[in-house]
Amino acid sequence: MQPTALLSFVLLAGSAASKTVFSAVSVNGLSQGHGVGIRVPSTNAPITDLTSNDIICNTGISTPVSQTVIPVKAGDAITAQFHKSPLGYLGPDPSDPIDPTNKGPVIAYLAKVPSATQTTVTGLQWFKIGQNGLNPTTHQWGSDLLFANGGNATFTVPSCLESGQYLFRAEAIALQNAASYPGAQFYMSCAQLSISGPTSFKTPATVSFPGAYTPSSPGIVSNIVGVTSYTVPGPDVFTC
Ligand SMILES: *[C@@H]1O[C@H](CO)[C@@H](O)[C@H](O)[C@H]1NC(C)=O
Repeated sequence: MQPTALLSFVLLAGSAASKTVFSAVSVNGLSQGHGVGIRVPSTNAPITDLTSNDIICNTGISTPVSQTVIPVKAGDAITAQFHKSPLGYLGPDPSDPIDPTNKGPVIAYLAKVPSATQTTVTGLQWFKIGQNGLNPTTHQWGSDLLFANGGNATFTVPSCLESGQYLFRAEAIALQNAASYPGAQFYMSCAQLSISGPTSFKTPATVSFPGAYTPSSPGIVSNIVGVTSYTVPGPDVFTC
């Protein structure tokens, strides 16, 4: 390959979008079905503008939107199923659920809402329930675990959470273009949960979207080539 051809190949590879969509939920390992109880974006295009309301629950949601609210219990395992296509798993594909060369964290949040099927997603108060960034020992990113687990990212619903309706926001961030802003690619959807929790509960500290991430937040503008540590953006994980 000529040096110029090699350079353009590298630039093209570096600009690839990872393209992944969270489109189904499992509770304690049992899938609720594709598009059930979740607002599925109609394309796998990334969100890159941190000031846009699209960073909350994505945009261009497929219709009709599921009116199912998924029942879960505090302490349950909840899995976000990501695939390359908004239609879910379409068969073997080397870049499903995510292009394995694209690296970044996978993060989950909850927000308490009056009704999990409400269309309004602005003004909600979010708290983080789990994250996989860069494991300093194995050097695996959250995206590597997502790939290894066939698109399944599993989190624990905090055992001390108040009963109520919640939105579950699970997000994969791809950092291969993140050396400047805008550059990081955000892939998220929101699922609709009804959580039954203990009578004695804890109230988490919360953040807003947009707002929780800014261009100057740790972990947003990131040159990840050769890094051995990485700070996941957003607040600390809520613990009981
Ligand atoms: C992902 O989760 C689904 C639903 O729980 C399950 O059927 C599937 O086997 C899981 N995939 C992997 C690779 O663990």
